[in-house]
Amino acid sequence: MKIQMNVNGQERILDVPPLRRLIDILREDMGLVAAKIGCGEGECGACNVLVDGEAVSACLIPAVQIDGCRIVTLEGLATSNDDALAALHGAFLEHDASQCGACIPGIVMTCRGMFDDLRNRRPSEAEVRGLLAGHLCRCTGYEAIVRGILKWLEMKSEP
Ligand code: FES
Ligand code: FES
Repeated sequence: MKIQMNVNGQERILDVPPLRRLIDILREDMGLVAAKIGCGEGECGACNVLVDGEAVSACLIPAVQIDGCRIVTLEGLATSNDDALAALHGAFLEHDASQCGACIPGIVMTCRGMFDDLRNRRPSEAEVRGLLAGHLCRCTGYEAIVRGILKWLEMKSEP
C-alpha cells in the first residue's frame, strides 16, 4: 500500500506492506537507526519515536496506522537545535546516565514526548520512575537515568 508521512520534517511517500512495522520502515527503508529493536514486543521502549507528538513503540505500529502521521526520530531532534534535547543530553552526561546506550534513545524520546506536560510543573521522583516504567535498561542504570531526568526538569524550571 502507498502511505504518506512526514518524517523529521520531510514529506515521504512509501509503497510498503500494510503490516510492515514502523521500526523496520525507519531503520531498514530509511536508514534512521537511532531507535533500536530490543524486545520487538512493546515491552522495552528501545524503539520509541514520536508519532504526532506522542512517544510510541515503533515495533508495535504497522504501516497502515501511520498514513498521514508526523514522525520524529532522535535523528530529527538532533538536527533541529532542540533546546529540550540539548538540556536532557547535558543532564544525562552530568549523571553518567548512559552505559551501553541501547535504551537511551527510547528514553530520550519518551522524555521529549512528555516535555509539554512536564514543562510547567516539577514531577516527583516517583512520577519520573513511573515515566520509565515502559523502558528496560539491561545495564540496570535506572538510578543514574532517574537522576539525569530530575536534573533536566530542574534545569527547565529555572527562569
Ligand atoms: S523493541 Fe519495541 S518496545 Fe522493545
Ligand atoms: S544503558 Fe545499557 S541498556 Fe540502558
